[in-house]
Amino acid sequence: MTDTLLAPHVTGLPFTVGPLREGLAFGAKVEGLTLKDLDRQDVRQALFDLWIDKGVIHFRADDTAAMQVALSACFGALERHMFEESWVAGCPELVNIKFYPEDGTLYEVDGQPRGGWLPWHSDLIYRDRINRGGILRPIQLPKKGGGMTGFVDQIAAYDALPSKLKQRIEGLHVVYVMDLNAEHARFGVGEQRRLVRFAKSATSINAREYQYPRVLHPLVFRQKETGRPVLNVSPWFAMGIYELGGLEGEALLREVVGYCIDSNNAYFHDWQAGDMVLWDNWRTLHSATGVEPDDTRVMYRTTISGDYALGRRLDAASELAAVDV
Ligand SMILES: [Fe+2]
Repeated sequence: MTDTLLAPHVTGLPFTVGPLREGLAFGAKVEGLTLKDLDRQDVRQALFDLWIDKGVIHFRADDTAAMQVALSACFGALERHMFEESWVAGCPELVNIKFYPEDGTLYEVDGQPRGGWLPWHSDLIYRDRINRGGILRPIQLPKKGGGMTGFVDQIAAYDALPSKLKQRIEGLHVVYVMDLNAEHARFGVGEQRRLVRFAKSATSINAREYQYPRVLHPLVFRQKETGRPVLNVSPWFAMGIYELGGLEGEALLREVVGYCIDSNNAYFHDWQAGDMVLWDNWRTLHSATGVEPDDTRVMYRTTISGDYALGRRLDAASELAAVDV
């Protein structure tokens, strides 16, 4: 039995494609790709098409910064992250996601200390312009294990909704706010959680939290290339439903989020050296399981730009008038 879906002798392309995990509705694994292969337009197009189709791609490839940046550029222009505190020194196209025993955000989750733990979210959802995606690459893996990255597919999540719920949420919008303290998260966090300390970089970012406007994003949108509906909600950073405040809206969003983070629809990547993982930030959520508090984990991430043009700033009166709700 083989887990190869597409082989070079069939496609004429210099890489194999297999499933991310057997039985999973999304994701793919690509092996055999080199930096030189990315010069080929047919290779870049095939990778883009696969990304649109599958949402998450696990690459086994050269684990260099040059490969990470060149590969990311196959899916869109790279942007510098809005938080300069997170840039990798000397390479502002890369974001440093790190946990050290002496620095890094630390939570207690269900009574257990977890360094670098992150609940389910999509990146930059608290901005009106959400980035298209990113590629993660491990720089230093934790010695004691853990440190996995979870992914769920929001197209599969929409498909799983009962038809009455699909009808109820059509045309609704979710309000988001920039607050890096996951202790304040209102949705998608069943765990008891307590912030023990912020990373130094997060402390200075969050000191500006009230300077960022609240934003709106539609709860459902259609993927441009395929027309497939996407359940567009990031549990972390969500405040509630714009059109339905109060307990009824909270209960509705809680019900919807339950379909997003169904563990049957989740994949947790256990990182190895030589891995890179690309995700479509417009149709997947991700999370981080965290590491032991005396361990170290360093990951570099690219930010692939784009604008699905459906986000709106909420706080300025002129912007509010432009929101078609
Ligand atoms: Fe993230």
